[in-house]
Amino acid sequence: MKVFHTVKEFVEWRKNEFSDRSKISIGFVPTMGCLHAGHASLIKQSKEDNDKTFVSVFVNPAQFAPSEDLDQYPRTLPEDIKLLESLGVDALFAPSPSEIYPQGIPLDTTQQRGPFVSVHGISEMLEGKTRPNFFRGVATVVLKLFNITAPDIAYFGQKDIQQFIVLETMVKELFCNLKLKMMPIVRGESGLALSSRNKYLSEKSKADASNIYAGLHSAEKLILKSAVSIKRQVLLDSIMEYWKQFIDSKELKVDYISIADYNTLQELDSIEPSTHRQSHDKVVISCAVYVTDVDKPDTTVRLIDNIIV
Ligand code: PAJ
Repeated sequence: MKVFHTVKEFVEWRKNEFSDRSKISIGFVPTMGCLHAGHASLIKQSKEDNDKTFVSVFVNPAQFAPSEDLDQYPRTLPEDIKLLESLGVDALFAPSPSEIYPQGIPLDTTQQRGPFVSVHGISEMLEGKTRPNFFRGVATVVLKLFNITAPDIAYFGQKDIQQFIVLETMVKELFCNLKLKMMPIVRGESGLALSSRNKYLSEKSKADASNIYAGLHSAEKLILKSAVSIKRQVLLDSIMEYWKQFIDSKELKVDYISIADYNTLQELDSIEPSTHRQSHDKVVISCAVYVTDVDKPDTTVRLIDNIIV
């Protein structure tokens, strides 16, 4: 596997090796590293679909707020390289922040210089309410990475479903010359969605956090087995039934639960049974919760999860 740390070297190599774009297809998987089976599933799909697969590992400062975990975010490049080699990835791009943001990238967004991409509307909802500049940082870095790697297809996880919708809108409306593909959430045996941030939690709290999924899954089951429309509150009650023991114990704090239309992320008051909906009329049940570790009360991790019904 080729490993590049500078934009110049990557772009030159890309141009020399793959000058005729019509001859080969390139798949690209952008990541922030600390790779797990969720990332691997995207890479495997890319290998299946394309002649060549590129991966990036870059902890993107522009998508972290000053109060967030930029410095603590796990960086495990040597292990990541081993995994990527075992998966048969062709090239890894792992730049430093100054490569991607030549004018520097202060955490205070009013001090930032250079071009940034905002996908207004969808970026201000759900995740964007708690993390106001998050999607601006994501869209900016992903567009830069698309321009550097020039892929035919880029792969993203359903785990970050709003990120996918933001990026799809960007690709469509900025006329980017590639396709995006969304892959299902990879979960641990307990149902907990794999995430690099799970590393912060003890085994006990990870086991407790699997109730996040159990709650969402109970709402999914209610929708799937109902022949009539269901009120939003019924689904919220069902989710809370699973979560309440942790909320009472202060281990879990809810940031949001959303039951929304997949295409617009507009909240729904009632949910029609799946059989009454068109295939594109999907409902997404999503949440963000803060999990405070039972063994380390100073450690609080924000986890997200969702189910498409
Ligand atoms: P990161 O959190 O490293 O995730 C990289 C990709 O892996 C994303 O598309 C994410 O949705 C996917 N992923 C993470 N956990 C997953 C799981 N359990 N199952 C399936 N896919 C999973 O998302 C980012 O990085 C960044 O925002 C990035 C797009 C790289 C821009 O900086």
